[in-house]
Amino acid sequence: MRQARQIELLDRLVGVDTNLPWNYAPASLRNPASAYTDPARFAEEMRVLFRGRPQFVGLSGECAAPGAFLTADLGGIPIAVVRQADGSLRALVNVCRHRGATLLQGNSQGSGKGDGLRRIVCPYHGWTYDTDGRLLQRPTSAGGFDDVAANCDLHQRAVAEKYGLIFVNPTGMEAIDVDAVLCGAEAEMADYGLADYVHIETRTNTWKMNWKMVLDTFTESYHIRWLHKDTIAPYFLCDLIFDAYGPHPRTIGLRKNVVDQLKDKPRSEWELLPYSTTQYFIVPNGLITYQLDHIEVWRVTPIDVGTVRVATSIFAPETPKDERTLKRWTKNLDILLNVTETEDFPAMERIQKNLQSGAMSEVVYGRIEPALVHLHTSINAALEAGRASARG
Ligand code: FES
Ligand SMILES: [Fe+2]
Repeated sequence: MRQARQIELLDRLVGVDTNLPWNYAPASLRNPASAYTDPARFAEEMRVLFRGRPQFVGLSGECAAPGAFLTADLGGIPIAVVRQADGSLRALVNVCRHRGATLLQGNSQGSGKGDGLRRIVCPYHGWTYDTDGRLLQRPTSAGGFDDVAANCDLHQRAVAEKYGLIFVNPTGMEAIDVDAVLCGAEAEMADYGLADYVHIETRTNTWKMNWKMVLDTFTESYHIRWLHKDTIAPYFLCDLIFDAYGPHPRTIGLRKNVVDQLKDKPRSEWELLPYSTTQYFIVPNGLITYQLDHIEVWRVTPIDVGTVRVATSIFAPETPKDERTLKRWTKNLDILLNVTETEDFPAMERIQKNLQSGAMSEVVYGRIEPALVHLHTSINAALEAGRASARG
């Protein structure tokens, strides 16, 4: 983010009592509990939000070299993104054309990532594909498929890579306009130079909660003083800077020391990024966080209405030079997950259970949770637009 933009955002804090909330949505929003619990609503979300629009898959640094690949479940569709010898990417449906076996599984840590791929070999009967998806051979079949006339190359999907971000169209080959997907966040995204970041580690966990609970966790800071009173609360202000890019909220959590410079330094020297955690939501399935000196990426894979898989990754500006530097990055991930996995997500699982009990007919997102209001307003609007277009 350019400094002029950082100053512009800091201007919002001038004259504000930063000990109190200052950032309000025009109106609170009530959302039915069924938004989190109804299987029919979930099916609609999969169709409209997860299959009906390009999905965020990862950062370029995760599959930088030829033969590197990333796997993803996009609205239930298994996809593998593979770096080709010429540096381009291919998105393949990760399903064997023989009898539907899963082809690329990713590494043993379950992060759906691997390197050094030369051929794609089906683990079931050995059908072998080139990295671009072309069927090369059916070993030991002794002419047993000679009468199969159909093309058995892997199905392809549209893939796009820009600003170091990879997107895939889960259902077809319709080209992806990354700028259109980012809805105006692209200028800031470009400034981070995400393409140069190096993947350090991904950890994956499954939680008994609706996928939106993951986004809800990060969309408001109202809970920090309570849920995180012993961990991060001492370091952060109670409110955040919120803006929206189309459906995607951008929220900036502010460290307490950010306000000192407003009086100590001339305006031209103000900086925001060193004092904040800047989060770009890519609705529905991604969250990219710029955190002082590294990048964190969250990927959300809904399993069913009450289950979600969450992958958390950390990226560094350069390849760690030694074991000590590597440890520093993995420790960052430990600290991050220590808060989310012991404080946030367990609380969200309990909320999910409470909503599923039928004890609550609705939840309320208050005016002091503007990003949360925006997120759910835009999700609900997308679903409504999907219904309208289905009605013709
Ligand atoms: S299912 Fe892949 S070779 Fe049989
Ligand atoms: Fe939290």
